[in-house]
Amino acid sequence: MTLFLAIETSCDETAAAVFDEVPRIRSSVVASQTDLHARFGGVVPEVAARAHLQRLLPVLDEALQQAQITLADIGCVVVHHMPGLIGALLVGVSAAKMLAVALDVPLIGVNHVHGHLYACRLTAGRDIFPCVGLVVSGGHTLLYDCRSALEFHRLGGTLDDAAGEAFDKIASLLGLGFPGGPAVEREAANGNPQAFRLPRALLHDARLDFSFSGLKTAVLYAFAGQDNPRPAPPPPGQLRADLAASFQQAVVDVLVAKSRAALQRLGYTRLAVGGGVAANQALRTALQDMCSSTGVELIVPPLSLCTDNAAMAAMAVEAWRRGAFSSLDLEPTPTLLG
Ligand code: KG4
Ligand code: ZN
Repeated sequence: MTLFLAIETSCDETAAAVFDEVPRIRSSVVASQTDLHARFGGVVPEVAARAHLQRLLPVLDEALQQAQITLADIGCVVVHHMPGLIGALLVGVSAAKMLAVALDVPLIGVNHVHGHLYACRLTAGRDIFPCVGLVVSGGHTLLYDCRSALEFHRLGGTLDDAAGEAFDKIASLLGLGFPGGPAVEREAANGNPQAFRLPRALLHDARLDFSFSGLKTAVLYAFAGQDNPRPAPPPPGQLRADLAASFQQAVVDVLVAKSRAALQRLGYTRLAVGGGVAANQALRTALQDMCSSTGVELIVPPLSLCTDNAAMAAMAVEAWRRGAFSSLDLEPTPTLLG
């Protein structure tokens, strides 16, 4: 059985995983850099790249150890080479190339955003295609027509902020710290999602696109007024919880409506959801309600496979079966192509 060693260094998680050709995860190790970036209120690219350099080898060792194998057992090296922070990607891609050459095994580059959807295939443990794919991460909000494991066609995406980015910015506005998603979710648990009527941009637009930047401004105006100087001090107590809950509800409503529209347009009966925001319980519940009422199967990974990890690069197994290897010219590519 061929074993794969995968590397993820696209943003602020240094991760490695071992999986086999089933594909089944043998180990998955994630070293988060949250502590390093928290005091800056966001990910600092140069800090991220340096931390990847320091952490990648111990993380690789740990992944091999947990899988109870050595490098000599690896038959293919896999890396997320796109999209992400260029300096961060460079660390993972360079290490992967070096390992592939040293071990004399094939190299496969995987699109990180597609990997977020492949996490659903891993979770299901069976073929889930064709399906609609919704990716909601810190950098991307996208809908895909996933025709087969290697054939993802973009249906639409955000015109400005990504859903996770909106959560992070709202957390900052409300003084909830970093990372924003889990903090806003905790705060929202004590608030009334109907307290503020916030915009749901493009909700009735036929395109399968999103826009979240106006929502951020609407939250700011809701507690600071339009004319107050910025940065405004965070709102107090219940007001803050109500704003967090109303914001979260607005994001959830749009994500659910657009997923539903994509399912209707394609006539598919499966929805796969991936990316850090898929960890949000309000979103998971609302998507489940929509899917249950429309006869659609919802596939969402467990929390550990929603946020960044290397196991979701198991999409490479599909490429490996077809002999679709990457050359040593594989480029770290910051922008999403495809
Ligand atoms: O997929 P991911 O780990 O990294 C990227 O590829 O971007 O997603 C990170 C994003 C962050 O914006 C974070 O705030 C958001 O996912 N996130 C959440 C939750 N957990 C993480 N957003 C809402 N609710 C959560 N529970
Ligand atoms: Zn990601």
